[in-house]
This record gives sequence, C-alpha cells and structure tokens, in this order.
Amino acid sequence: MAGLNKNAPIGVFDSGLGGLTVLKALARLMPEESLIYFGDTAHVPYGSKSPEAIARFSSEIAEFLAGRGIKLLVVACNTSSALALPAIRAAARIPVIGVIEPGARGALAASRGGRIGVIGTEATVKSGAYVEAIKALKKDARVTSAACPLFVPLVEEGWWSGEVPSAVARRYLAPLKRARVDTVILGCTHYPYLKRVLAEALDARVRLIDSAEETAREAERVLRELGLRAPIGRRGRREFYASDAPKRFQRLARRMLGSGTMRVKARAFE
Ligand code: DGL
Repeated sequence: MAGLNKNAPIGVFDSGLGGLTVLKALARLMPEESLIYFGDTAHVPYGSKSPEAIARFSSEIAEFLAGRGIKLLVVACNTSSALALPAIRAAARIPVIGVIEPGARGALAASRGGRIGVIGTEATVKSGAYVEAIKALKKDARVTSAACPLFVPLVEEGWWSGEVPSAVARRYLAPLKRARVDTVILGCTHYPYLKRVLAEALDARVRLIDSAEETAREAERVLRELGLRAPIGRRGRREFYASDAPKRFQRLARRMLGSGTMRVKARAFE
C-alpha cells in the first residue's frame, strides 16, 4: 500500500444507482474526500447473472477505477461483494472494502434476539455470504434469507413507493415475518430507497439495517489507520461514470442525491 496519496479520490461502484446510498453516506461522513462513482448501467441487474459474469464486470470496473488513481475502493454492491471481493482484493494494490461484513456487524449490534432477516438479490442470497458473515460473528444467530429480484428494477425505474412496490414487498417479506425476525439487513444497496415500503410490510419493531452507514464508517477507519485521510476543511470533488445511458443515470442520480449539477461521463467496456 506504499505510495498512496492522501489527496487521491475514493472509488465507489455498483451495478447501477444503488451504490449512491453508499456514496451519500461517504460524502456525509467525509466531505473532504473526493469520490469517483461508477454505475454499471450496461449490465444492471447483477443479481440474476452468473457468478462468472459478476466477477468479470466487477474486476473490469475495479481496474478502471484503480487506473484513475484511487486510494481506496469501496465495492458498494452486495452482489459483487458476495461474489467477487476476494478476486478484486487479490488483483488490487489498494485497500478494498465491501458491504457485507459492515452490514452483518450492524445487524448484530442492533438485534435484540439474534433473529436476523437478510434480503438481497438472487445471486447474493444464493452465495450464502451474509449467513457466513453473521455466523462468523455470532454462531447461534438465526438467519432467514429471501431473494427479492423485482426490487432492483423498481428502484431503477424510480418506483420507490405506492401500490406496486408495497404489494411486491408484502409477498417477498412474508417468510421473514413468519420467522419473526427482529432485524432485517437491506442486503442490496438499491433497497434503502424502498425503506418506507419495507418498514410497512414488516412488524413496526423490526430494525432495518442499511449497510451504507456502516460501510462509510469502515472506510473512514481504514483510511485513518493508513494515514490516508484527506486534509479536513477542504471540499472533495465528485465524479460520475455510467457504462450506458449516462443521461438517464444523471436524471435518477440527481433525484437520489438531491444535488443540482452533476455531469455523468460514459465509459463502456467491450
Ligand atoms: N445494488 C446491488 C447490490 O447491492 C446490485 C443489484 C443488482 O444489480 O442486481 O446487490
């Protein structure tokens, strides 16, 4: 990790818009850090793709961001974190953090009875990565998982509330309700946009864990420990890339970030 520069940006990526929840948490916690975001809009959703394809897309983006001179890579996608983190870490010469471990830690800290629900994409749930991360921290935790493949397209379409997402949420969350989970991990970075709908479909006392905040704290800790925090008081730059339809990405990203001006550059891979 020698030779990394404190003033360099942090790279953040996701299959689409979901990772913006992580970008927002990073910007709130560390306004002085510059951030480069990559949304792989050409390949979203990752959740229904094969592990090989997910690993390939993720590695290409990691390589692209590394080429932009980043000092830390945040894999702001649960699906990539579940399936590609070891490969990305092995290839990278910079520190890399994912969203699964921070989410698992956050859930166990919030849970009263150790009955944890995990919702995520098909690929994330199938990988068993959350169950493994939770059990590594608390052997006797009871974990109930559910894949929710329709949530990502709903978020990418901007359908964050109303009849349709509510009906879909009730159906997907029924097994978690039956298992009487006390805490639910939003195991996909798109899901925080559906938080209200999800909370309504669950018992009011169930805690929802959004791994974005936990991940931002972990990023801050890693940078601080490596002496790589940007000087406090400066204002970090933001740069956005999308692998397809950058204008559409820009329109929805503005709504998600609530920010006025931003320019999204197109960057496609073969
Ligand atoms: N937002 C991503 C995740 O956290 C990926 C969703 C998808 O592309 O299927 O898993």
